[in-house]
Amino acid sequence: MSAQDDWQREVFRELGGAVETAGTAGTAGTAEAAAGPVPQPQPVQPHSVQPQPVHQQPPQPPRLPPPTPVSVPVVAPELAEARGRARHGDSIPQRAGRAMRRLLLSSTAQDTAVATHTAQVIQQPITTGRQIAVTSIRGGAGKSTVAALLSLTYAHYRSDPVLTVEADPALGPLPLRLGAAEVRWSCADLARIIDPSMQITDITGYLVRLSSGGWLLPGSQGAVGAQLDVDIYRIVMTSLRRYFGTTIVDCETLPAELARTALTTTQARVLVTPATVEGLAATRSVLDWVGGVHRSLLPTTVVALTHTSPDMAVDERRAAEHLGVGGARVVSLPYDRHLAAGGQIQSALLGQATREAAAQLAAEAMDRAVSRGRR
Ligand SMILES: Nc1ncnc2c1ncn2[C@@H]1O[C@H](COP(=O)(O)OP(=O)(O)O)[C@@H](O)[C@H]1O
Ligand SMILES: [Mg+2]
Repeated sequence: MSAQDDWQREVFRELGGAVETAGTAGTAGTAEAAAGPVPQPQPVQPHSVQPQPVHQQPPQPPRLPPPTPVSVPVVAPELAEARGRARHGDSIPQRAGRAMRRLLLSSTAQDTAVATHTAQVIQQPITTGRQIAVTSIRGGAGKSTVAALLSLTYAHYRSDPVLTVEADPALGPLPLRLGAAEVRWSCADLARIIDPSMQITDITGYLVRLSSGGWLLPGSQGAVGAQLDVDIYRIVMTSLRRYFGTTIVDCETLPAELARTALTTTQARVLVTPATVEGLAATRSVLDWVGGVHRSLLPTTVVALTHTSPDMAVDERRAAEHLGVGGARVVSLPYDRHLAAGGQIQSALLGQATREAAAQLAAEAMDRAVSRGRR
């Protein structure tokens, strides 16, 4: 058996798919195996066999290939100018204060050592594709923002290809946040045509190339009512894993079936939690559920405690105690004016604390995704 068959078996096992079906069908069975077991024909009992009248089949219309999607702008041209001037995450006094501290204090060496360690964790080698799901129990918690920050951070630090999948067809902001001008092929379109014989160069022809260097697969073209179900998700994630070292999945909100599937079938997961008492309580319920699904899931979970408003304040030590059950790690993402303003995220305009938190989130998630693979 080849190494490729081996890791594909691992993927099928993780996705709860039919390993045996895939094993007998060879690599060409990838899509079917990922979509679930194929129904077997039922044996016919001899006494139930009745002579059947022979019906002439009406002629079938020829099968047409699926339509090829056309490119659609992410923002309508008339809206492109509507966005105000992009703001820096830190105010001018904050930036000036930091520059002064750098000049006068000797903490720079320690800061550099911490940053170097974080970068090394993000860059650690991986043998097979690692997939990290980002979800939350509430809409507006900051999922797409966290997914975009992870995507930008991995694309910056890692040399292997980074893919971001939008597993949410509901007009999400992810393409805009990542600076995509147009979207064309969605998850559902790609699931229809993907084939295990494709090379990475064929695959990337269906993806959006991002200025960060990474790739994006959108959940839809932004139309209301687009379809993205669990079968499509499984086909896409199983098929793409061998091409991309790191995949980040921006999932729809829990408890939707797709989000639950993504949460339990990826190697690591980030649960985005608003920094409010309600947010902590809701996320604790999700963590209790996750811990009950399998014991390996909580130690490979990161909680991103997000501050989407400057007025949010919870005691972070208590929050970490409450949410750190079973080994989950809590990382706080501060309020950032640049993120609050919406539109494309420009790394250079993020506040210093936001950049550090994004790097820490990326390091914690990667470390967990890799450790799950070692188990
Ligand atoms: N750290 C942050 N600082 C400031 N605003 C944020 C932050 N994280 C998210 N936001 C804002 O919160 C809102 C919801 O974020 P979004 O990522 O779209 O949430 P979700 O994907 O969970 O629905 C957006 O307007 C976004 O700009
Ligand atoms: Mg979103």
